[in-house]
Amino acid sequence: MNMDAQPSSPVEIKVLILTKDTKIEQHVKFVLKHSYWNNLVTITFEDLSEAADHLEQNPNQLQLIIFEHLSSSLSLLKTFLALAQETPAIMIASEPKLQETVRSFEFPPAFIHRNELEQKLSEVVQSLAKDGKIPPFGETDDRDYVPMSHGSILQNRPLNFDLYVRLGGEGRFIKIFNQSSVIELADLEKYNKTNSPRFFFAKQSQLLSANQEQLKRLESLQKQQPLPLQEARKEYDTSASIVRDVVNQLGFTPEAQALAKSCVSMSLKALGTKPKLAVILRDLKRKEGDYLVNHSFMLGQVACALAQKIGWTSTKTFFRLSLAAFLHDISLDREDLAKIETLEEVKDHPEFSSIDLLNIKLHPIKSADYSRQFSEIPSDVDTILIQHHERPDGEGFPKKLSSKLVSPLSALFIMAHDLVNQMYKEPETNADLFFLVNSERYQSGQFRKILLALRDPPATKK
Ligand SMILES: [Fe+2]
Ligand SMILES: [Fe+2]
Repeated sequence: MNMDAQPSSPVEIKVLILTKDTKIEQHVKFVLKHSYWNNLVTITFEDLSEAADHLEQNPNQLQLIIFEHLSSSLSLLKTFLALAQETPAIMIASEPKLQETVRSFEFPPAFIHRNELEQKLSEVVQSLAKDGKIPPFGETDDRDYVPMSHGSILQNRPLNFDLYVRLGGEGRFIKIFNQSSVIELADLEKYNKTNSPRFFFAKQSQLLSANQEQLKRLESLQKQQPLPLQEARKEYDTSASIVRDVVNQLGFTPEAQALAKSCVSMSLKALGTKPKLAVILRDLKRKEGDYLVNHSFMLGQVACALAQKIGWTSTKTFFRLSLAAFLHDISLDREDLAKIETLEEVKDHPEFSSIDLLNIKLHPIKSADYSRQFSEIPSDVDTILIQHHERPDGEGFPKKLSSKLVSPLSALFIMAHDLVNQMYKEPETNADLFFLVNSERYQSGQFRKILLALRDPPATKK
């Protein structure tokens, strides 16, 4: 026998668990704890006759019995249930026939097939509570909880919210990780291997308050003179992951718009008014493992530095490019999806589902839609967003646009994105060398004009 008690409290619920399977024991405790938490006392047995002895010596002490049928004799099982008397019992067994057999007993237990334990236990315990046989269980107001995919959770480093799982169809939510925890995929897979939807949850009130707290933090950071690049970069990462969570769960709320704008202004402040491409490339070494949030910051900085180099130096241009960088992959919640540059590359990823493919194909359109929800936004930001995967050879997506139809700002943005991806492959990337090596690629439409302007920048013209 092994006793596992939480500190005592007024409404104690004492449960006898009988099983040899530690997985069953853990699952039962996990389900019960979310409702009874500090009030739960469990007593675990591995042997039916020992459990029966316990019932005989401690009559009427338990609120619930959950037992696995352990191929012992039916008469012993009958005795065990007779000793339990009115105490509600749940039997877990692999043979469906047993359900019929125990139904004829004087005190028949509820029945759960072993294979359905994960889905059914919470439901069965809830129905016992509904019938008044055990203290109230489950029932909570779930309107505040929003589902989070593996990807949305993992792009938070550390977590910007407490993470919950929901137990049973109508079950309650149990917190599994606190805000600020740094978690890995393996941590999530312990709870849910298949990334099934609506398994992990966050509280939307917490997402919104994280948004507002971050907005305040950025406002005070804006006052800092000068603003160090690495600090701006760190806050950008946090802001981008918060905005992504809010946008994907609640839409582009005014709060998320304010945070996105503030974050873009902060990144421009860190950039300065005359960004030098070589300096940006030197200082912006890629960071390992967090492409999703991090490459947007690099892209904003690199795009502005390219624009500066070819003489497009207005503040409005910098703002458009930086905002487009912030928004361009916002609807994607996974690094592997955001890394896809052309639809050709998808063939190398047989693991992508049809929904993944759809998300990749549609994300330029979604980002453009998001940008149109902004109040007071320069109109051509949505053009950059919708065109950011078009290619100079006309083989891009979503429209396979001919390079003649790609706008000048979009062409520059696409070239900046290519350069950033090269920085991920090769940390010591030299921009001049990159454009020299790739010059064939950019021989059409606006791409060619930008390439020529980069070779012969206005500042060096005599
Ligand atoms: Fe993209
Ligand atoms: Fe991207």
